[in-house]
Amino acid sequence: MSPFTLTRHLPADATADALRADVTEGLTADPKWLPPKWFYDARGSELFEEITRLPEYYPTRAERAILDRVAGDIAAATGARTLVELGSGSSEKTRLLIEALRERGTLGAYIPVDVSESALEQAGQALIADYPGLTVHGLVADFTAGLTLPDTEGPRLVVFLGGTIGNLLPAERAVFLARVRAALRPGDTLLLGTDLVKDEATLVAAYDDSAGVTAAFNKNVLAVLKRELGADLDPDDFEHVARWDAGHEWIEMRLRARTALTAKIPALDLKVDFAAGEELRTEISAKFREERVRDELARAGLELTHWWTDEQDRFALSLAGLSG
Ligand code: AVJ
Repeated sequence: MSPFTLTRHLPADATADALRADVTEGLTADPKWLPPKWFYDARGSELFEEITRLPEYYPTRAERAILDRVAGDIAAATGARTLVELGSGSSEKTRLLIEALRERGTLGAYIPVDVSESALEQAGQALIADYPGLTVHGLVADFTAGLTLPDTEGPRLVVFLGGTIGNLLPAERAVFLARVRAALRPGDTLLLGTDLVKDEATLVAAYDDSAGVTAAFNKNVLAVLKRELGADLDPDDFEHVARWDAGHEWIEMRLRARTALTAKIPALDLKVDFAAGEELRTEISAKFREERVRDELARAGLELTHWWTDEQDRFALSLAGLSG
Protein backbone atom coordinates (compact mmCIF):
# COMPACT_ATOMS: atom_id res chain seq x y z
CA MET A 1 0.00 0.00 0.00
CA SER A 2 1.19 3.51 -0.78
CA PRO A 3 2.34 5.48 2.27
CA PHE A 4 0.08 8.32 1.10
CA THR A 5 -3.68 7.89 0.79
CA LEU A 6 -6.53 10.40 0.59
CA THR A 7 -10.11 9.83 1.70
CA ARG A 8 -12.99 12.15 0.84
CA HIS A 9 -15.61 12.58 3.54
CA LEU A 10 -17.22 15.42 1.68
CA PRO A 11 -19.45 14.96 -1.34
CA ALA A 12 -18.20 17.10 -4.24
CA ASP A 13 -21.12 19.53 -4.04
CA ALA A 14 -21.22 19.80 -0.23
CA THR A 15 -19.13 22.97 -0.25
CA ALA A 16 -21.35 24.72 -2.78
CA ASP A 17 -24.49 23.80 -0.82
CA ALA A 18 -22.98 24.97 2.46
CA LEU A 19 -21.93 28.30 0.93
CA ARG A 20 -25.43 28.92 -0.42
CA ALA A 21 -27.01 28.08 2.93
CA ASP A 22 -24.57 30.27 4.89
CA VAL A 23 -24.91 33.27 2.60
CA THR A 24 -28.71 33.04 2.57
CA GLU A 25 -28.84 32.83 6.36
CA GLY A 26 -26.13 35.38 7.13
CA LEU A 27 -27.07 38.12 4.67
CA THR A 28 -30.77 38.03 5.55
CA ALA A 29 -29.97 38.22 9.29
CA ASP A 30 -29.88 41.42 11.33
CA PRO A 31 -27.06 42.18 11.98
CA LYS A 32 -25.58 40.59 8.86
CA TRP A 33 -22.78 38.02 9.18
CA LEU A 34 -20.82 35.44 7.19
CA PRO A 35 -18.77 32.52 8.54
CA PRO A 36 -14.99 33.05 8.23
CA LYS A 37 -14.37 29.74 6.46
CA TRP A 38 -15.38 31.33 3.14
CA PHE A 39 -12.27 33.56 3.13
CA TYR A 40 -10.11 30.63 2.12
CA ASP A 41 -10.25 30.14 -1.64
CA ALA A 42 -6.84 30.00 -3.38
CA ARG A 43 -6.43 33.81 -3.21
CA GLY A 44 -7.67 33.97 0.39
CA SER A 45 -5.28 31.22 1.49
CA GLU A 46 -2.44 33.12 -0.18
CA LEU A 47 -3.43 36.33 1.60
CA PHE A 48 -3.59 34.46 4.91
CA GLU A 49 -0.05 33.13 4.37
CA GLU A 50 0.98 36.73 3.73
CA ILE A 51 -0.72 37.82 6.97
CA THR A 52 1.35 35.31 8.93
CA ARG A 53 4.50 37.12 7.78
CA LEU A 54 3.30 40.65 8.69
CA PRO A 55 5.17 42.45 11.50
CA GLU A 56 1.86 43.15 13.29
CA TYR A 57 0.54 39.56 13.09
CA TYR A 58 2.34 37.86 15.98
CA PRO A 59 0.26 34.64 16.55
CA THR A 60 1.98 32.43 13.97
CA ARG A 61 5.47 33.34 15.16
CA ALA A 62 4.50 33.06 18.83
CA GLU A 63 3.00 29.60 18.31
CA ARG A 64 6.03 28.42 16.36
CA ALA A 65 8.32 29.67 19.16
CA ILE A 66 6.38 27.56 21.68
CA LEU A 67 6.46 24.48 19.43
CA ASP A 68 10.18 24.96 18.88
CA ARG A 69 10.73 24.93 22.63
CA VAL A 70 8.31 22.19 23.75
CA ALA A 71 7.86 19.75 20.85
CA GLY A 72 10.07 17.27 22.72
CA ASP A 73 7.98 17.65 25.90
CA ILE A 74 4.80 17.08 23.88
CA ALA A 75 6.28 13.94 22.35
CA ALA A 76 7.29 12.69 25.81
CA ALA A 77 3.94 13.53 27.42
CA THR A 78 1.82 11.93 24.68
CA GLY A 79 3.93 9.09 23.27
CA ALA A 80 1.70 9.46 20.23
CA ARG A 81 1.79 6.80 17.50
CA THR A 82 -0.78 8.64 15.40
CA LEU A 83 -0.79 12.41 14.88
CA VAL A 84 -4.09 13.89 13.66
CA GLU A 85 -4.16 17.53 12.58
CA LEU A 86 -7.43 19.42 12.14
CA GLY A 87 -7.28 22.21 9.55
CA SER A 88 -3.78 21.13 8.56
CA GLY A 89 -3.35 23.51 5.59
CA SER A 90 0.33 23.46 4.58
CA SER A 91 1.31 21.31 7.65
CA GLU A 92 4.36 23.56 8.06
CA LYS A 93 4.40 24.01 11.86
CA THR A 94 3.44 20.36 12.32
CA ARG A 95 6.83 19.27 11.08
CA LEU A 96 8.26 20.23 14.47
CA LEU A 97 5.90 17.72 16.11
CA ILE A 98 6.42 15.04 13.49
CA GLU A 99 10.17 15.30 13.98
CA ALA A 100 9.95 15.22 17.78
CA LEU A 101 7.68 12.15 17.69
CA ARG A 102 9.89 10.38 15.18
CA GLU A 103 12.91 11.08 17.37
CA ARG A 104 11.18 9.17 20.16
CA GLY A 105 10.46 6.45 17.64
CA THR A 106 6.72 6.33 18.31
CA LEU A 107 5.12 7.99 15.28
CA GLY A 108 3.58 5.67 12.67
CA ALA A 109 0.90 7.74 10.97
CA TYR A 110 0.07 11.38 10.29
CA ILE A 111 -3.55 12.16 9.49
CA PRO A 112 -4.09 15.69 8.18
CA VAL A 113 -7.75 16.74 7.99
CA ASP A 114 -8.68 19.68 5.80
CA VAL A 115 -11.44 20.87 3.47
CA SER A 116 -8.83 21.62 0.82
CA GLU A 117 -7.94 18.52 -1.21
CA SER A 118 -5.14 20.36 -3.01
CA ALA A 119 -3.51 21.44 0.26
CA LEU A 120 -3.68 17.82 1.54
CA GLU A 121 -2.25 16.44 -1.67
CA GLN A 122 0.67 18.89 -1.68
CA ALA A 123 1.50 18.62 2.00
CA GLY A 124 1.11 14.81 1.96
CA GLN A 125 3.48 14.26 -0.96
CA ALA A 126 6.11 16.55 0.58
CA LEU A 127 5.88 14.81 3.96
CA ILE A 128 6.27 11.25 2.70
CA ALA A 129 9.28 12.39 0.68
CA ASP A 130 10.88 14.02 3.75
CA TYR A 131 9.98 11.36 6.34
CA PRO A 132 10.63 7.82 5.05
CA GLY A 133 8.48 5.21 6.76
CA LEU A 134 5.77 7.69 7.74
CA THR A 135 2.26 6.80 6.61
CA VAL A 136 0.19 9.86 5.65
CA HIS A 137 -3.55 9.45 5.39
CA GLY A 138 -5.24 12.72 4.34
CA LEU A 139 -8.92 13.24 5.11
CA VAL A 140 -10.89 15.71 3.03
CA ALA A 141 -13.46 16.69 5.62
CA ASP A 142 -15.11 19.60 7.39
CA PHE A 143 -14.18 18.75 10.98
CA THR A 144 -16.74 21.24 12.35
CA ALA A 145 -19.43 18.93 10.93
CA GLY A 146 -18.29 15.80 12.81
CA LEU A 147 -15.17 13.75 13.19
CA THR A 148 -14.50 10.14 12.24
CA LEU A 149 -10.88 9.11 12.53
CA PRO A 150 -9.37 6.12 10.76
CA ASP A 151 -8.59 3.22 13.04
CA THR A 152 -4.85 3.75 13.35
CA GLU A 153 -2.68 2.78 16.27
CA GLY A 154 -3.00 4.70 19.55
CA PRO A 155 -2.19 6.68 21.45
CA ARG A 156 -3.38 9.42 19.13
CA LEU A 157 -2.54 13.10 19.46
CA VAL A 158 -5.12 15.40 17.86
CA VAL A 159 -3.79 18.91 17.21
CA PHE A 160 -5.72 22.06 16.34
CA LEU A 161 -3.26 24.92 15.91
CA GLY A 162 -3.16 28.55 14.87
CA GLY A 163 -5.83 29.79 17.25
CA THR A 164 -8.51 28.78 14.76
CA ILE A 165 -10.77 27.60 17.59
CA GLY A 166 -11.16 31.34 18.29
CA ASN A 167 -13.01 31.73 14.99
CA LEU A 168 -15.87 29.68 16.45
CA LEU A 169 -18.55 31.25 18.64
CA PRO A 170 -18.65 29.93 22.23
CA ALA A 171 -21.59 27.60 21.52
CA GLU A 172 -19.85 26.30 18.38
CA ARG A 173 -16.67 25.70 20.39
CA ALA A 174 -18.62 23.63 22.91
CA VAL A 175 -20.03 21.44 20.12
CA PHE A 176 -16.63 21.16 18.46
CA LEU A 177 -14.78 20.17 21.66
CA ALA A 178 -17.46 17.62 22.54
CA ARG A 179 -17.00 16.05 19.10
CA VAL A 180 -13.25 15.89 19.52
CA ARG A 181 -13.77 14.32 22.96
CA ALA A 182 -16.12 11.72 21.45
CA ALA A 183 -13.48 10.75 18.88
CA LEU A 184 -10.79 10.21 21.53
CA ARG A 185 -10.00 6.95 23.34
CA PRO A 186 -8.29 6.57 26.72
CA GLY A 187 -4.64 7.62 26.36
CA ASP A 188 -5.37 9.95 23.43
CA THR A 189 -4.69 13.68 23.80
CA LEU A 190 -5.63 17.05 22.30
CA LEU A 191 -3.13 19.85 21.64
CA LEU A 192 -4.90 23.19 21.21
CA GLY A 193 -3.44 26.54 20.10
CA THR A 194 -5.13 29.67 21.46
CA ASP A 195 -4.28 33.33 21.12
CA LEU A 196 -4.33 35.17 24.46
CA VAL A 197 -6.01 38.34 25.75
CA LYS A 198 -3.60 41.27 25.62
CA ASP A 199 -3.62 45.04 25.16
CA GLU A 200 -6.09 46.38 22.65
CA ALA A 201 -3.56 48.22 20.46
CA THR A 202 -1.55 45.05 19.79
CA LEU A 203 -4.69 43.07 19.01
CA VAL A 204 -6.25 45.63 16.70
CA ALA A 205 -2.97 46.16 14.81
CA ALA A 206 -2.75 42.41 14.18
CA TYR A 207 -6.12 42.56 12.41
CA ASP A 208 -5.69 45.98 10.75
CA ASP A 209 -2.12 46.00 9.47
CA SER A 210 -0.56 49.06 7.89
CA ALA A 211 0.09 47.30 4.56
CA GLY A 212 -3.63 46.55 4.17
CA VAL A 213 -3.18 42.80 3.70
CA THR A 214 -5.84 41.94 6.30
CA ALA A 215 -8.22 44.42 4.64
CA ALA A 216 -7.69 42.61 1.32
CA PHE A 217 -8.18 39.24 3.06
CA ASN A 218 -11.44 40.47 4.61
CA LYS A 219 -12.73 41.82 1.28
CA ASN A 220 -11.77 38.59 -0.48
CA VAL A 221 -14.97 37.02 0.80
CA LEU A 222 -16.84 39.42 -1.51
CA ALA A 223 -14.85 38.06 -4.47
CA VAL A 224 -15.80 34.52 -3.42
CA LEU A 225 -19.49 35.49 -3.36
CA LYS A 226 -19.10 37.14 -6.74
CA ARG A 227 -17.42 34.16 -8.38
CA GLU A 228 -19.48 31.40 -6.75
CA LEU A 229 -22.90 33.07 -6.62
CA GLY A 230 -22.70 35.93 -9.13
CA ALA A 231 -23.11 38.53 -6.36
CA ASP A 232 -22.51 42.08 -7.65
CA LEU A 233 -20.58 43.16 -4.54
CA ASP A 234 -17.81 45.69 -5.17
CA PRO A 235 -14.96 45.58 -2.61
CA ASP A 236 -14.45 49.33 -3.08
CA ASP A 237 -17.96 49.91 -1.67
CA PHE A 238 -16.85 48.48 1.68
CA GLU A 239 -14.38 49.47 4.35
CA HIS A 240 -12.36 47.01 6.46
CA VAL A 241 -13.13 47.24 10.17
CA ALA A 242 -11.30 45.45 13.02
CA ARG A 243 -12.65 46.06 16.50
CA TRP A 244 -11.81 44.68 19.95
CA ASP A 245 -14.95 43.60 21.83
CA ALA A 246 -13.78 43.79 25.45
CA GLY A 247 -16.96 42.21 26.81
CA HIS A 248 -16.63 39.04 24.74
CA GLU A 249 -12.84 39.25 24.58
CA TRP A 250 -12.79 38.76 20.85
CA ILE A 251 -11.70 40.70 17.76
CA GLU A 252 -14.44 41.25 15.22
CA MET A 253 -13.72 41.84 11.57
CA ARG A 254 -16.46 43.56 9.66
CA LEU A 255 -17.09 45.08 6.25
CA ARG A 256 -18.81 48.47 6.46
CA ALA A 257 -20.86 49.73 3.51
CA ARG A 258 -19.58 53.18 2.51
CA THR A 259 -22.98 54.14 1.07
CA ALA A 260 -26.46 52.66 0.90
CA LEU A 261 -26.46 49.91 -1.71
CA THR A 262 -28.35 46.87 -2.89
CA ALA A 263 -26.49 43.68 -3.80
CA LYS A 264 -28.05 41.19 -6.19
CA ILE A 265 -27.18 37.53 -5.71
CA PRO A 266 -28.63 35.76 -8.76
CA ALA A 267 -27.69 32.21 -7.72
CA LEU A 268 -29.80 32.65 -4.58
CA ASP A 269 -32.48 34.79 -6.19
CA LEU A 270 -31.76 37.28 -3.43
CA LYS A 271 -31.45 41.07 -3.09
CA VAL A 272 -29.63 42.36 -0.05
CA ASP A 273 -29.97 45.99 1.10
CA PHE A 274 -27.16 47.70 3.00
CA ALA A 275 -27.79 51.03 4.75
CA ALA A 276 -24.95 53.57 4.59
CA GLY A 277 -22.49 52.57 7.34
CA GLU A 278 -24.11 49.18 7.89
CA GLU A 279 -21.62 46.52 8.97
CA LEU A 280 -21.40 42.87 7.98
CA ARG A 281 -19.52 40.67 10.49
CA THR A 282 -17.10 38.37 8.68
CA GLU A 283 -15.08 36.91 11.57
CA ILE A 284 -14.69 36.72 15.29
CA SER A 285 -11.27 35.79 16.65
CA ALA A 286 -11.60 35.04 20.34
CA LYS A 287 -8.67 35.63 22.68
CA PHE A 288 -8.33 33.41 25.73
CA ARG A 289 -7.12 33.22 29.31
CA GLU A 290 -5.96 29.98 30.91
CA GLU A 291 -9.10 29.77 33.05
CA ARG A 292 -11.43 29.92 30.05
CA VAL A 293 -9.49 27.28 28.14
CA ARG A 294 -9.45 24.97 31.19
CA ASP A 295 -13.16 25.55 31.67
CA GLU A 296 -14.24 24.95 28.09
CA LEU A 297 -12.13 21.78 27.93
CA ALA A 298 -13.59 20.54 31.22
CA ARG A 299 -17.16 21.09 30.00
CA ALA A 300 -16.34 18.81 27.06
CA GLY A 301 -14.91 16.10 29.32
CA LEU A 302 -11.28 17.03 28.72
CA GLU A 303 -8.70 17.83 31.37
CA LEU A 304 -5.98 20.43 30.83
CA THR A 305 -2.67 18.82 31.78
CA HIS A 306 -0.09 21.22 30.28
CA TRP A 307 -0.17 24.96 29.50
CA TRP A 308 2.72 26.44 27.56
CA THR A 309 3.07 30.07 26.43
CA ASP A 310 5.69 31.98 24.48
CA GLU A 311 8.11 34.19 26.37
CA GLN A 312 5.88 37.25 25.95
CA ASP A 313 2.68 35.43 26.99
CA ARG A 314 0.99 36.21 23.69
CA PHE A 315 -0.13 32.72 22.69
CA ALA A 316 -0.67 29.37 24.41
CA LEU A 317 -0.56 25.68 23.62
CA SER A 318 -2.73 23.47 25.82
CA LEU A 319 -2.46 19.73 26.17
CA ALA A 320 -5.51 17.86 27.41
CA GLY A 321 -6.50 14.27 28.04
CA LEU A 322 -9.81 12.59 28.87
CA SER A 323 -11.06 13.60 32.31
CA GLY A 324 -11.68 11.21 35.13
C1 AVJ B 1 -5.29 31.94 12.31
C2 AVJ B 1 -7.26 31.42 11.13
C3 AVJ B 1 -7.30 31.83 13.45
O1 AVJ B 1 -8.24 34.54 13.65
O2 AVJ B 1 -6.15 35.15 13.63
C4 AVJ B 1 -5.98 36.37 10.41
C5 AVJ B 1 -7.39 34.21 10.69
N1 AVJ B 1 -8.11 36.58 10.36
N2 AVJ B 1 -6.28 37.67 10.23
C6 AVJ B 1 -7.10 34.53 13.17
C7 AVJ B 1 -7.15 35.69 10.50
C8 AVJ B 1 -7.57 37.79 10.18
C9 AVJ B 1 -6.84 33.69 11.94
N3 AVJ B 1 -6.72 32.23 12.18
